[in-house]
Amino acid sequence: MPTQLLAVHGISKSFPGVQALKDVQFELNRGEVLALVGENGAGKSSLMKILSGIYTKDAGSISLEGAEVDIDSPKTAQTLGISIIHQEMNLMPHLTIAQNIYIGREPRGGVFLRERALNRKATELLQRLGIALDPREVVGNLTVAKQQMVEIAKALSFDAKVLIMDEPTSALTESETETLFRLIEGLKQRGTGVIYISHRMEELRRIADRVTVLRDGQYIGSLEKHELDITRVIDMMVGRHLEEGARPSSDRHRGDVVLRVQGLSTRHLLDDVSFELRRGEILGFAGLMGAGRTEVARAIIGADPIDSGTVEINGKQVRISQPSDAVRHGVGYLSEDRKLLGLLLEQDVNSNILLASLRDYTDALGFVHTPKGKQKSREYVKSLRIKTPSIAATTKNLSGGNQQKVVIAKWLARDCDILIFDEPTRGIDVGAKEEIYRLLNDLVAQGKSIIMISSELPEVLRLSHRIVVMANGRITGVLENEDASQAKIMDHATRMGVEKEYSSR
Ligand SMILES: Nc1ncnc2c1ncn2[C@@H]1O[C@H](COP(=O)(O)OP(=O)(O)OP(=O)(O)O)[C@@H](O)[C@H]1O
Ligand SMILES: [Mg+2]
Repeated sequence: MPTQLLAVHGISKSFPGVQALKDVQFELNRGEVLALVGENGAGKSSLMKILSGIYTKDAGSISLEGAEVDIDSPKTAQTLGISIIHQEMNLMPHLTIAQNIYIGREPRGGVFLRERALNRKATELLQRLGIALDPREVVGNLTVAKQQMVEIAKALSFDAKVLIMDEPTSALTESETETLFRLIEGLKQRGTGVIYISHRMEELRRIADRVTVLRDGQYIGSLEKHELDITRVIDMMVGRHLEEGARPSSDRHRGDVVLRVQGLSTRHLLDDVSFELRRGEILGFAGLMGAGRTEVARAIIGADPIDSGTVEINGKQVRISQPSDAVRHGVGYLSEDRKLLGLLLEQDVNSNILLASLRDYTDALGFVHTPKGKQKSREYVKSLRIKTPSIAATTKNLSGGNQQKVVIAKWLARDCDILIFDEPTRGIDVGAKEEIYRLLNDLVAQGKSIIMISSELPEVLRLSHRIVVMANGRITGVLENEDASQAKIMDHATRMGVEKEYSSR
């Protein structure tokens, strides 16, 4: 018999204009991984924030090890043994890894001794977890993935009974995800109960003992491991059956070359990158993490300096030395790091969508709340199915995935001819992914051109007319969609070692 760790019944929670949770229930056993899934805005994070004392519930009960508990603050949750890894990272960028992990729990003593003891403790923790990071590094200098690993280490440092992970892998590489899964296996063995939130359906079979589905703030049902069927989970999530769209054929959309990149090299990584993007084309960029796909985008838009190489737009060579030059030439870049790209979280949805295209939608005084602008914002809210009470809602109150949709709307509103999307569907639910795919297809049908960097091969195959594969800063293959398969892409993505040797002879 499994021993019950946590039981949650009849939980409800409302915010102004939104009922985020209605009568939700679930149970968690010792040594079990419960996956919690649902569309963007379904209520997953809100439920977890109630369990971790950040939000107070309007109704319902929570029992831990058979006794009803009142979780009235994050401190109480911690004392009860409930620890959470947040979807939005909560680290202090100016502090070191060790300082972040033990913030508020620093050892006593003089500054110098304290620092030493802190670093020693952090080193032990990181080693025990198999995370290769130096505790003295300043968090602000780390990549998003590494920051995520620090968040994970911090949550694990509490030795919790219940560990909540809200989309822990959305920014992790495959090997980091594997490290995390091994950590979770270890925790299970020690009897920890894990609540695991993810939009990556393929992870469920790998890690979940049970899956609980929420939709529109309501409990829909749970599936045990042996009855786990991903199509069924998705149907439960979206409340209808999702059809997968057809793959594009490469010939249909062959327009003129709008972007020609030749011999692009950077000191850091890129080595003689050349390719062409045509009008009306979606050009997929595939490759392993660190292959150089984001670097190509950053070099093109002038975010990083280039050593050599040329960029032509519509047949004319251009000099792009900063991102604003790129925008002037009609090139927009949706970065993979949504936080840096800067939503104004305190501002409303309308302002954020129109922010990048101010000139088109502001009135003489620079206000974005013109009727024309609002109309445009409402259209995007509708077509991207952004879940918000209205376009006047404060952006920080939207769920994580819906905030990302706002970023996408912002770039769509901008009306660039060439759009570079870096991991456009990261953190976005399966139903909304289909909407974004449809939008990208509409854009190219209107004659725009898109470069789409994605680590999800099914997505690359589903959308791209042609696929550029990179490895170690070089292009190792360009495949027509009809000749491409996951296996072929992986083959090119892992091919590099040999080619590098050739070229250096
Ligand atoms: N502090 C808040 N103020 C107002 N509304 C909120 C607040 N927090 C959450 N909501 C609303 O509650 C609903 C559920 O949001 P929640 O963040 O729980 O969704 P989620 O399932 O975690 O989605 P995602 O997959 O996008 O992260 C959303 O409609 C959201 O806008
Ligand atoms: Mg969430």
